[in-house]
Amino acid sequence: MNGPELVSVAPTCRLCAGPVREWMDLGRQPASNAFPRPDETDAERFFRLAVGICAECTMVQQLEAMPTDHMFRADYPYRSSTSDGLRRHFEAVAGWLRDTELTDRADLVVEIGCNDGAMLGVLGASGVRHLGVDPSAGAARTAVARGAEVRVGFFDEVSAAAIRAERGPAKVVFSANTISHVADIGTVFRGVDRLLTSDGIFVFEDRYVADIVEYAYFDQIYDEHFYLFSVRAVDAMVARFGFELVDVERIPIHGGSLRFTVARPGARPRRASVGRMIDEEAQTAIGEYDTYLRFARQIERVGADLVALLTDLRDAGRRVVGYGATSKSATVTNFCGIGPDLVPFICDTTPEKQGRLSPGMHIPVRPHAAFADPYPDYALLFAWNHAEEIMAKERHFVAQGGRWILYVPHVHIV
Ligand code: SAM
Ligand code: TMP
Ligand code: ZN
Repeated sequence: MNGPELVSVAPTCRLCAGPVREWMDLGRQPASNAFPRPDETDAERFFRLAVGICAECTMVQQLEAMPTDHMFRADYPYRSSTSDGLRRHFEAVAGWLRDTELTDRADLVVEIGCNDGAMLGVLGASGVRHLGVDPSAGAARTAVARGAEVRVGFFDEVSAAAIRAERGPAKVVFSANTISHVADIGTVFRGVDRLLTSDGIFVFEDRYVADIVEYAYFDQIYDEHFYLFSVRAVDAMVARFGFELVDVERIPIHGGSLRFTVARPGARPRRASVGRMIDEEAQTAIGEYDTYLRFARQIERVGADLVALLTDLRDAGRRVVGYGATSKSATVTNFCGIGPDLVPFICDTTPEKQGRLSPGMHIPVRPHAAFADPYPDYALLFAWNHAEEIMAKERHFVAQGGRWILYVPHVHIV
C-alpha cells in the first residue's frame, strides 16, 4: 500500500521555536568568503542555502547553518576599509558615539566584529576606552595597526563575562553587519546583558529585509546572513532576551540597512520610529509568507535572465568580466551556475582574494589592474552596493565603449 509521502518535519525558529516555512532553496552553496587557492578546491564545504519565515515571530532565517568556524577563520578575507564609502560611514559612526555617548573618560565601548578597525581605529585615535572582538586574526592585525585594541575570538556570553571582569561594564556595545551572522544569537544577547551598564546602549546595524524584498537584492542571502531582520521580528527578539528596542533608523549601507538601538527596559525613551516602522511593515506585508513566495519567483526569473544574457554575449564573442568578488557573488554564481566559461575572471582590490578562486564556481580572482588590460566589453557588477563609487572611478571604461551589467532588481545593461 502506498502511504502518504513522508515530508521532513517543519524546522523550528531559532528564537521562538515556532514553525519556519521555507520559501526559497538557493541550492548547494559554499562559504561565501572562503576563496580557495587553485590547489585547495577539494577542501571546500557546502550547505543547502534555504530560507524561510517563522509563522509566529516572523523572523526570516536560514533552515541550515554553515558552521561558524568555517566562515570566520584567521584568513577571513573581507575588509571593511576596501570601500571609501564604508570607511566614511564608520568614521561618522565613531564621531557620533564619541560625541553623544562616550563623553566620560571612563566610558568603555566594545565592538563585536570590528574587522579591520574602520570604526574602532577612529575611536582609539580619539583616546576612547575601547575593545574590539573578532575571530578574524588577519583583519584584527590591521585593526591593531590602526591603533585599535582587539581580542581575537568570538563574542559570546563567556568572552563577554571575561571582558567585564577585566575592564568593567561597557556604556556602548556596537556591531555592524555581524549580529545577523550568529545563528545562536542568544549567546550574543546574554553576553551583552553581562557587559552593558544599566543605562548603556547596544547599537547594531544590519541589512533590512524590506529593502532586500523591494529591490530584489536576493544575493544578500548567503551563509553569513543567517537572519534577515525586520523591525517587528527584532522588536520581539530583543524583548525575548530581556531588552527593549528603543530606536530604529534607516541607513543607506549595502543597499538598505537599519541601525537598531537597544537598551535595558525603561532605561531610555522608546522613539516613535519603532512603532511607525512596525506599522509600515504591516502595510507592506513584510511578515507574510506570500510576500516571500512572490520574491522567490522573481529570484528565479532574474537568475534565468542573467544566464541567458551571459550565454548570448559569450556566443556573440563578447568579453565579460566580473567586478568585485563580493560575498554576494557566491550566491549569484552558484545559484545560476555561472563559471569561468561565462565570466573568465573577477577583478577585486582585496589582496587576500587575489590569485584565488571564487567559492564554489572557481572563477579566478585577479587584481584590479586586470580590469583595464584590456577593458572587457561588459562588466558584471557584483559589487552593486558600491555602484556609485565604482562607476565614478571607472568612467574611462564607459567612455571607451564598455557597459555595465546589473542584475538587481532585474537584469539590465547601463
Ligand atoms: N563590522 C564590519 C563591517 O560592517 O564592515 C565587518 C563585517 S564582516 C561582514 C563580519 C565580521 O564579524 C567579521 O570580521 C567576522 O570575523 C566577525 N564575526 C563573526 N562572528 C562573530 C562573533 N560571534 N563575534 C565577534 N565577531 C564576529
Ligand atoms: P562587499 O559588497 O561585501 O562590501 O564587498 C565588496 C567587494 O568589492 C570587496 O571584495 C572589495 C571589492 N571592491 C573592488 O574590487 N573595487 C571597489 O572599488 C570597491 C568599492 C570594492
Ligand atoms: Zn519565531
